[in-house]
Amino acid sequence: MHALQTTSLRVADNHLFILDQQALPQEKRWLSADTVAELVGHVHALRVRGAPLIGLSASLLLALLAERGANRDQLAQALETLRAARPTAVNLMNNLDRMKQVLAQQTFVPALTAEALRLIDEDKQLCDSIAQAGSALVTAGSRLLTHCNTGGLATAGVGTALGVIALAHQQGKVASVWVDETRPLLQGGRLTAWELGELGVPYQLITDSMAASLMAKGQVDAVWVGADRIAANGDVANKIGTYSLAVLAKFHDVPFYVAAPQTTLDPLCPDGDAIPIEQRAAAEVTGVAGSFGTVQWAPEHAQVYNPAFDVTPAALISGWVLDSGVVTPAEVANGAFQPK
Ligand code: MRU
Repeated sequence: MHALQTTSLRVADNHLFILDQQALPQEKRWLSADTVAELVGHVHALRVRGAPLIGLSASLLLALLAERGANRDQLAQALETLRAARPTAVNLMNNLDRMKQVLAQQTFVPALTAEALRLIDEDKQLCDSIAQAGSALVTAGSRLLTHCNTGGLATAGVGTALGVIALAHQQGKVASVWVDETRPLLQGGRLTAWELGELGVPYQLITDSMAASLMAKGQVDAVWVGADRIAANGDVANKIGTYSLAVLAKFHDVPFYVAAPQTTLDPLCPDGDAIPIEQRAAAEVTGVAGSFGTVQWAPEHAQVYNPAFDVTPAALISGWVLDSGVVTPAEVANGAFQPK
């Protein structure tokens, strides 16, 4: 495979590397992600993260393993192990379904490489289209609020919700961005703050519990988030804390937008109750670990509940901003996301 570089993925000399998103922003460190075990470990540790990026990294690795001589059975097994790495993100399953179809072809080695590279190119285009569609919804002087990280780090392109915000900023429409720090792994505080800084977008970092009082004071004009999976009825799984933002937005009459590529749609999933939610380690809540070290603040044997995602019901969503354009609540109610 030829050399390739996105914000968070790199192929060099036929080896896959990922930008360690646990180390950012203190350190820009590239790690080998060249075996299934390595990549799955990175996904679990959120060193590779963001639903689109996880799907793309798994597809690239599969193509590289094929180029190195893995046979069809070995690749099929690798594919299933990768598929299980993040149960909530349907982009991973959607991308790997495409790779699986190609694996059935006679000359699957070059075809897998071509398909993985196509997925990367497509993701860039999907991000651009989402940004175009979404930025049209941003009104001049907007104070936007976003959760988690949905930028270039999480995709092969400009990002989803953060791509919208970046383009709206270029268009001179963004007054400022409230960035939820995003518990428990601080993707907002570390990654979104870093990306917005690099893009020159004015922002203020807040803890996740501050959105309510900001909305009550009329300081938020719209909320923009990404998605790990969109069910057929429009329910959306996204980073834990998204649902509470949507409830707050509804109460305060603030528009709440979900930005995602078509690879995030799951027409076969009827509603949010059917979306599997990954549970994560207690240590992420009893303390914090990162490039700065490890701190534990909870008692040693504290019991913890730590779901990685929550589900926002369709009724709380003002618009689903896809690469194909903005889908309205009425269109969703009329079956826009139902199987064709
Ligand atoms: O656990 P993370 O940091 O990977 O969670 C990311 C999100 O929830 C994003 O909103 C989603 O994956 C879309 S990223 C473009």
